[in-house]
Amino acid sequence: MVETKLFDLTGKVALMTGASKGMGKAMAHALAAHGATVVISARTQETLDETAAEINQAVGAERVHGVAANAGRKQELETLVEKTHQLAGPVDILVGNAGVNVHYGPISEIPDDAYEKTMQVNVQANLWLARLVAPDMIEKGNGSMMFTASVGAFKPSDTLGVYGTSKLALIGLVRNLALEYGPQGIRANAICPGLVRTDFAKALWDNPEAVKRANSQIPLRRLGEADDFEGLAVFLGSDASRYMTGQALTVCGGSFMWS
Ligand SMILES: NC(=O)c1ccc[n+]([C@@H]2O[C@H](COP(=O)([O-])OP(=O)(O)OC[C@H]3O[C@@H](n4cnc5c(N)ncnc54)[C@H](OP(=O)(O)O)[C@@H]3O)[C@@H](O)[C@H]2O)c1
Repeated sequence: MVETKLFDLTGKVALMTGASKGMGKAMAHALAAHGATVVISARTQETLDETAAEINQAVGAERVHGVAANAGRKQELETLVEKTHQLAGPVDILVGNAGVNVHYGPISEIPDDAYEKTMQVNVQANLWLARLVAPDMIEKGNGSMMFTASVGAFKPSDTLGVYGTSKLALIGLVRNLALEYGPQGIRANAICPGLVRTDFAKALWDNPEAVKRANSQIPLRRLGEADDFEGLAVFLGSDASRYMTGQALTVCGGSFMWS
């Protein structure tokens, strides 16, 4: 057994959106297993309660609380932060993981309301959240924000164009948060997953051709799994990443490399 405090989150409070299933759930589990109190959020209270109970049982402590909120509604995010303060205290770690894709097709055909919803949930909601928790972090002189973007930010697409545009805008937001809040000890980073086997992306991986492609072309020879994001959440949330901010970290089995 190696003794290290580098990844210790004891006493830390994490607030997460999009955390009742998929990658958010895996990250919530990892943060709680490393000692954090975690408020998980999504739209459905029932699923949140089930997820919180499952993680609490696994870690052997009542560390996870579920609070329903639609990330696209500012008022609900304000209430979420208030409830987080009541349940757990001031926020040390923010994980903006909720994301939507409401249009599959060319950007020339996207209806205005689909464009607005995509940008609101994927970008603006994360700015609202950052502003809501920043005072907690400024008071402590320390905090970590992480937001789930996508490798879709790095390339155009004739089917997921506005989704990719919103995720590139999110990386832009992250860089600005890092610039503006860095002097107060707050870090902000983006997580960019490749294709991950969650419900969100089922249409993209749930067919033999996609699996065959992943298993033969991705350098690590498989699709991503939600659990692949546990380590990064702990790393970004903890002191282990204390000199890292304004970065977009790609977790994709090597399917996208810097070029
Ligand atoms: N899976 C991939 O291949 C992939 C790749 C790149 C990036 N991403 C990004 O990764 C993030 C998480 O996706 P995932 O694959 O883990 O999805 P998932 O398994 O489908 O989980 C999505 C979570 O977000 C919640 N959610 C959805 N819309 C919401 C909203 N408007 N407000 C609040 N919560 C909401 C869902 O619960 P409710 O439905 O109850 O609200 C659920 O907890 C997203 O930002 C996505 O864009 C995914």
